Amino acid sequence: MKGIIIYKGKYGATRQYALWLGEMLHIPFITAGDETKPQLEDADYIIMGTSIYIGKLQLRKWLKTHQEVLVNKRLFLFLVAGTPPSEQEKLQGYIEANIGIEIRNCCSFFFLPGKLEFSKLSLIDKLLLKIGSRLSKSKGEVISVTDYNNVTKEALLPMLEAISKKEGAVI
Ligand SMILES: Cc1cc2nc3c(=O)[nH]c(=O)nc-3n(C[C@H](O)[C@H](O)[C@H](O)COP(=O)(O)O)c2cc1C
Repeated sequence: MKGIIIYKGKYGATRQYALWLGEMLHIPFITAGDETKPQLEDADYIIMGTSIYIGKLQLRKWLKTHQEVLVNKRLFLFLVAGTPPSEQEKLQGYIEANIGIEIRNCCSFFFLPGKLEFSKLSLIDKLLLKIGSRLSKSKGEVISVTDYNNVTKEALLPMLEAISKKEGAVI
């Protein structure tokens, strides 16, 4: 079975997961937009990785653009977020708000913990995060502005297991 990983992130967390997956599954990992049409069309299964900023998936537009090809494939999508994987309802809400039903129907979703290094953020992201954090407090939610790094290889295990079951991929 031929697989490919397409990912989009901003500060390295999504890329790190894509790189580990690529190494473990022996398949190419490509930044969204850099793939060729035949690469997508020839794949039997596609793993997509995206992070989230202020409720919006980085891959949102790419998913819409490529919907026609995607719906004929077996799809796996991992979402990298500050929201911990235990907050399933919130994370599921992100998926529903960003991805159309056509893709949701043929895609398995996995939630992976992200990382934040405040000093490395662009000025605009620093501002957005501070505003988001203040707004979330008033809603009784927490958006952290302090550094964290929860990116580990172990977080990939449930997804690897699902992929090897469905695709017979050898890890
Ligand atoms: C400006 C900003 C907004 C963010 N918004 C959200 C959000 O809405 N929900 C969430 O769960 N995490 C949010 N995060 C956390 C990121 O998704 C997390 O840092 C992730 O690891 C980023 O991955 P990347 O480096 O691959 O882009 C936000 C982070 C920043 C800096």
